[in-house]
Amino acid sequence: MKIENKVAIVTGASGGIGLATAIKLLHNGAKALAMVDISERIEKTAQDLINYSENPNIRGFCGDVSDCDFRNRVFSNMLDEFGPVQICVPAAGIVRDGLAVKQNHKTGEVELYSEDKFRQILDVNLLHPAYWAMDTIAGIARHRLTNNQSKWQSDEDIQGCIILIGSVSSRGNRGQVGYAAAKSGLKAVSSTLNLEGLFYGVQTKIIHPGFVDTPMVETIDADYFDENLKPMIGLGRKIRPEEIGEIICTMIENPVLSGEVWADASMTPLA
Ligand SMILES: NC(=O)c1ccc[n+]([C@@H]2O[C@H](COP(=O)([O-])OP(=O)(O)OC[C@H]3O[C@@H](n4cnc5c(N)ncnc54)[C@H](O)[C@@H]3O)[C@@H](O)[C@H]2O)c1
Repeated sequence: MKIENKVAIVTGASGGIGLATAIKLLHNGAKALAMVDISERIEKTAQDLINYSENPNIRGFCGDVSDCDFRNRVFSNMLDEFGPVQICVPAAGIVRDGLAVKQNHKTGEVELYSEDKFRQILDVNLLHPAYWAMDTIAGIARHRLTNNQSKWQSDEDIQGCIILIGSVSSRGNRGQVGYAAAKSGLKAVSSTLNLEGLFYGVQTKIIHPGFVDTPMVETIDADYFDENLKPMIGLGRKIRPEEIGEIICTMIENPVLSGEVWADASMTPLA
């Protein structure tokens, strides 16, 4: 599906992969763009992109992606101003690392990974992308019905595309029981929504990045990264966020490319 002239939403758009994707979507001619983030920086980032791209149809929305009222407001504002959202990249995400079972070897005491953290991770990294994706499909389904269209026909253009952000951690990763569960769960969300969404001409795909040079990865101690993680990366470097943004645009534009894409710079499995 051509990105040109389409209405898009990117969450987690104030930095990292989300911002890089927003910039690439604008380069590819998106008509309108909702930039969503919990950080108050998002309003200024959206204004900066309006100045840079000379596209006035960019809107910054500050809020929590897990908040259903906030999500409804973003979709209905975009619909009223520009029409139904056709591209959705729910990229907001968090990490809350910790061993699943941690033993104090002196006392023998065993501590389990916090249930609160597990739920928070699932809310932001699994439920949020699923519901933002489902609202994208819902908007297209409603729009088609008002035009007396229901089932999509293969001689029509693709009507919409959703790109979920998985991770190499979806294969399982020590210290990331919640994060790995969320990212692995997204694979099932992607394939299920792809099966259901194609009824309306909407594709859903998932990209699994390796280590991308963003604020999320900056939290890893540099010496630890060089010693323990870098040797696993065939290309011997972190991935640039714009490299992921570029692949996401290719995934949107090429309808034959479906399912899962691994963008891990030739990384060997973590386990
Ligand atoms: N950086 C990596 O190496 C890497 C690798 C694989 C997958 N990912 C995934 O890519 C996505 C983007 O990560 P990134 O590296 O750009 O991280 P990042 O920390 O740079 O950006 C994440 C953005 O999400 C926003 N955010 C977090 N919680 C939010 C909430 N509740 N509501 C609204 N916004 C919220 C943050 O403010 C931030 O701007 C995430 O889903 C992450 O899991 C990242």
